[in-house]
Amino acid sequence: MKLSEAINSRKTFAIISHPDAGKTTLTEKFLLFGGAIQTAGAVKSNKIKKTATSDFMEIERQRGISVATSVMGFMYDGMQVNILDTPGHKDFAEDTYRTLTAVDSVILVIDCVKGVEEQTERLMEVCRMRKTPVIIFVNKMDRDGKDAFDLLDELESKLSIRTRPLSWPIGIGPTFQGVYNIFNSQLKLFAPNKTKVEADTVDIADLNDPQLAEVIGNEPADTLREDLEMVEAIYEPFDRKSYLNAEIAPVFFGSALNNFGIKELLETFIDIAPVPQARDTDVRKVEPLEKTFTGFVFKIHANLDPKHRDRIAFLRVCSGKFERNQFFHHVRLDKKIKFSNPSSFMASEKSTIEEAYPGDVVGLYDTGTFKIGDTLTEGEEMQFKGIPSFSPEIFKELENLDPMKTKQLEKGIRQLTDEGVAQLFIQELLGNKKIIGTVGELQFDVIQYRLEHEYGAKCQFRALKYHKACWITSDNEAKLNEFIRIKTTDMAKDKDNNWVYLAPSEWILRLEQQNFPELTFHTTSEFK
Ligand code: G4P
Repeated sequence: MKLSEAINSRKTFAIISHPDAGKTTLTEKFLLFGGAIQTAGAVKSNKIKKTATSDFMEIERQRGISVATSVMGFMYDGMQVNILDTPGHKDFAEDTYRTLTAVDSVILVIDCVKGVEEQTERLMEVCRMRKTPVIIFVNKMDRDGKDAFDLLDELESKLSIRTRPLSWPIGIGPTFQGVYNIFNSQLKLFAPNKTKVEADTVDIADLNDPQLAEVIGNEPADTLREDLEMVEAIYEPFDRKSYLNAEIAPVFFGSALNNFGIKELLETFIDIAPVPQARDTDVRKVEPLEKTFTGFVFKIHANLDPKHRDRIAFLRVCSGKFERNQFFHHVRLDKKIKFSNPSSFMASEKSTIEEAYPGDVVGLYDTGTFKIGDTLTEGEEMQFKGIPSFSPEIFKELENLDPMKTKQLEKGIRQLTDEGVAQLFIQELLGNKKIIGTVGELQFDVIQYRLEHEYGAKCQFRALKYHKACWITSDNEAKLNEFIRIKTTDMAKDKDNNWVYLAPSEWILRLEQQNFPELTFHTTSEFK
């Protein structure tokens, strides 16, 4: 396949939401429409996140939280659609942020009853920071939720983005009947169905067609016409460029559970969403059309089978063509490696691939060669940017409970932190004391569980009162060394051997910044 053809027929995106807004249900419906799965059993017993597709870890089964970020691909209308799944739970927010570095656009799901929730705001902030185009899907319109116009106002004010409805609900709650497709001026009424996507629809192309009132009733037909008039009066016409520049978010309404509004969303998405885009490295911008292959690892996953400790590294192809059994350059290790079993993920199936193109996500078997953020090229020395570590919010000292298993513990904790489960800071000057930093409590459970089940090591954690981790740099080496000496008990090295200052409180941090103006205190690890 020609590179340009491959690029123009790919859409790689993530569905994100506050937990419970309907991300899993929507993903499932997309897969149904894409023919990638045949039926979506009762949502309760057969959620995608509870099947093997994205359920890599026992702990996920136990807790019912989608810890994993997995990839689901399917073909629709000649387009290769790659959905990167993200964990909704806030303790795994960093995982989600990292996944957002590997997509070209995002669908943000909102619950129409709850409106904009805390996680939604945070996720949107990340999208704004990265200028990722966003489509908003307002879900659960079959419930008595907020008025559509009010919701649009709330989206604009809380998410700081202009909106433009591209579909419109007919009724809400018990009277919800479906959506009118503003984007292509069409009404397709689906029979509600929780498990399948039905082909039998009623098509009405003209709003003044008397069939409209026959199908949805006189009053709803009048309301729909009035609402649409108002939409056209209030909102500017849809401009794809503004959407691609992340200045405006198209909004769709529907009910994922009942299939309302999903096809409209999917088809418009296919139409307007960006194809694979250029990406920044520390040296230059890389265009997908470049002939030589480049890519980066944004996610590392423990194997399905905890008895085998190999892992899967998820690589986003950024330019050129990835090929099986071809040697590529691992920039950080300055090493040539080839992959004999690279895999792609088509819905429930994982299969070996011969080649992959920009926008694709390739699963690479990994026995400890990769860390999150690693770059592969055909020889060029450069590192993709945009996958920083953020300062953790919770810090605990790792205590070994079984001295006979020290080696296993060391190896386990290194590998788990390479996977991005948590950050590891080592206090070399204090007898290699290990401090684990996370954004949520849940990660400590994950670490403890996995160290025991995968590495046979037992540990416990001792809470530490730190406020933030700051990466410290300075041109003035003498001052830097002085700071490290004075602050020995609060200094540690991160996974890449960079100095990190663990600030006990916001107040002390500010004080030190004043005392040491020669030093720079970075709140993320991406400062080079
Ligand atoms: P998430 O991945 O964003 O966390 O959300 P998920 O799809 O799991 O959906 C959360 C809940 O909302 C599920 O119910 C799901 O059935 C329900 N839901 C999704 N879409 C719609 C919709 O359009 N209308 C209505 N009324 N409900 C919807 P649950 O009872 O929490 O799930 P389960 O206990 O059945 O697994």
